[in-house]
Amino acid sequence: MKTYKIVVIPGDGIGPELVDATLEVLEKVQEMAGDFRLSYEFHEAGANYYQKHGVNISPETLEAIRKADAAMKGPVGLPGVRLPDGTEAGVLGGVLRSGFDLYANIRPIKLFPKVPIPLKDRPPERIDYVMVRENTEGLYLSRGRGIITEQAASDTLLMTRKGCERICRFAFKLAVEKIKGAPEDGRRRVTLVEKSNVLRSFYFFRQIFAEVAKEFPGVEAENLYVDAASAALVMRPEHFQVLVTENMFGDILSDLGGATIGGLGMCPSSNMGDERAYFEPIHGSAPDIVGKNKANPLSQVLAAGLRIEPHEAHQVVPALAAGLLLAVCPLHVRISASTSAHVLSAFWCGLSLALWVWGQRLGRWPLQVAALAAMPAACLTRPATKPPTRPLDPERTLRR
Ligand code: IPM
Ligand code: MN
Repeated sequence: MKTYKIVVIPGDGIGPELVDATLEVLEKVQEMAGDFRLSYEFHEAGANYYQKHGVNISPETLEAIRKADAAMKGPVGLPGVRLPDGTEAGVLGGVLRSGFDLYANIRPIKLFPKVPIPLKDRPPERIDYVMVRENTEGLYLSRGRGIITEQAASDTLLMTRKGCERICRFAFKLAVEKIKGAPEDGRRRVTLVEKSNVLRSFYFFRQIFAEVAKEFPGVEAENLYVDAASAALVMRPEHFQVLVTENMFGDILSDLGGATIGGLGMCPSSNMGDERAYFEPIHGSAPDIVGKNKANPLSQVLAAGLRIEPHEAHQVVPALAAGLLLAVCPLHVRISASTSAHVLSAFWCGLSLALWVWGQRLGRWPLQVAALAAMPAACLTRPATKPPTRPLDPERTLRR
């Protein structure tokens, strides 16, 4: 049985409560699945750790994360525990997100049934989008580097071509892989949230977004300024399937989105790079409600779920492909007459499956239509089986 090594950082404030509840759920999941185990390694990090040790995370913990299959992290940081520069000492975004180059912060905003929400008349299936927040650059790259004097202060927003390209590509791939399109019209759509009417850096982001969009002709690409986007996320959340945006905009808008689905306690996130990932709630450590049995553990539980099922469609496509193969193959085996017919049938089957999967991945529906067309073609174009020849019955012939 495969065992996965998970580093667990319970964090500060309500973090340990949320993580305890999540471990119970994960225990049940392992029992029910029966084909994998999780082995946990617990590490302290965050504001409490900083108070004891003068740093918010140890080199051993970083090394453990590097070696593990994944890390689960509770919220960290306490408003009263600050660095000499006035920023919070316990937050780990800089060291984990930038340190491990986890450039994509995936924040699903999905309304669950029966959750009370501030918006009127929204059934659950009407809010279901993913916010893709760029996680390693933008304004927060200035963290720890800003300039401050008695009279003025400045932080710098920086975007790179590599950073913009990879986050846009991530968002488009996600739009293709998600099972459902936007609730409003079922369309696969990526919305870039930016402010290019004012800042050059966002015009740069916008141009790269348009370039990447050309690689995904099956996905609609649109732009929204951040101020309009914040109104739209309240007024017509059903319009969105995937949004992609700069680091600080994503931080702010994901909390706004969280409020529309009943609060941040419903919001998980994953921090993904090409090699590594860690999973956490989007909210803070809420020290005011510690120990009161008030904290909603769902954000943490759902974050663990993101680890287990990162992209919905990955599970569905192979299942569908296998189903089609099984449906069509016995037909061929039964009715094909010769070895060459088998080879031809297998070719058609393979081609249609390849077209289907390829179309799904690129979001090109014509490829999928072609795949479906190729299936019956595989049956129709096989050489017809000759009926067995029987000797003539002379008596019957005579009776006629
Ligand atoms: C988040 C949090 C962090 C961030 C804080 C704690 C530094 O707000 O993950 O959204 O801003 O990135
Ligand atoms: Mn935040």
